[in-house]
Amino acid sequence: MNTPICLFDSGIGGLTVLKKLINKFPNQNYIYLADLARVPFGDKTKEEIKLIVGEIIEWLTKFGPETIIMACNTSSAISNRIELLGLRNEQNQPNPQSSILNPIYGMIESCAKEIAKSNYKKVSVWATKLVIESNSYKKSIQKYNPNIIVEEIACPKLVPMIEDLSFTISERNKIISEYLNQTSKDTEALILGCTHYPLIAEDISSLANLKTIDPTDSLLKELEQKITNNDSSASSEISLYATAQIEKLERFAKIYLGGDFQTSLVTLSKASV
Ligand code: DGL
Repeated sequence: MNTPICLFDSGIGGLTVLKKLINKFPNQNYIYLADLARVPFGDKTKEEIKLIVGEIIEWLTKFGPETIIMACNTSSAISNRIELLGLRNEQNQPNPQSSILNPIYGMIESCAKEIAKSNYKKVSVWATKLVIESNSYKKSIQKYNPNIIVEEIACPKLVPMIEDLSFTISERNKIISEYLNQTSKDTEALILGCTHYPLIAEDISSLANLKTIDPTDSLLKELEQKITNNDSSASSEISLYATAQIEKLERFAKIYLGGDFQTSLVTLSKASV
């Protein structure tokens, strides 16, 4: 039986990563945690995110995962910088004192590497407040290619808007336009630096003639070389967990994933921020 791929997000955004993973690796088992008790992550402090991510990774490790994916840019921005909370070294190898041996991936590094190799002269990034404050995209892209101009824009209204299905189209367009107005006209591509944002990619394209980039696509290319245990005769099981609002996760999963999945409520209390 395949060991699972485990992933997590603050809420329903990581489902955009899960959906692409399922399409690419259909015979894997998946465990997804939506920390809906503590959404949004983007307005929290670095210290709070470190505690939350540490607790979630410890919990996911109990499933004996093949790999853990932080399907959350906010967690990736904060945890990557401290070498994944002391669990990994800079080469993504386990630290000798750590019992967590499986690889852990974030959303930012593989995308930054791909952008750095592109012909873009100027790109923009939309992301949560915490991701923008960390300058993670700018630092990571310019580490590989200092010639690319990276404009970073915090979009704190987008996650609450996406999580709440009661917004009308004109209310949604008004909020999206606010951030489009802050985006330079000469930018060549917009990086969707929050896993919630691919859910509004079509709304963005209907309002502006702007190419959008989903960092999940770069991550999938990297994972293609790493995911080994892909027994084509194995059937795939998808288990979704939420720390609160389980009905919300079920509703969104039905819309975005379709298909069969199980849902359960879980309590994570150590980092109750
Ligand atoms: N979807 C997450 C991200 O990619 C978290 C957003 C939030 O909870 O603020 O950053």
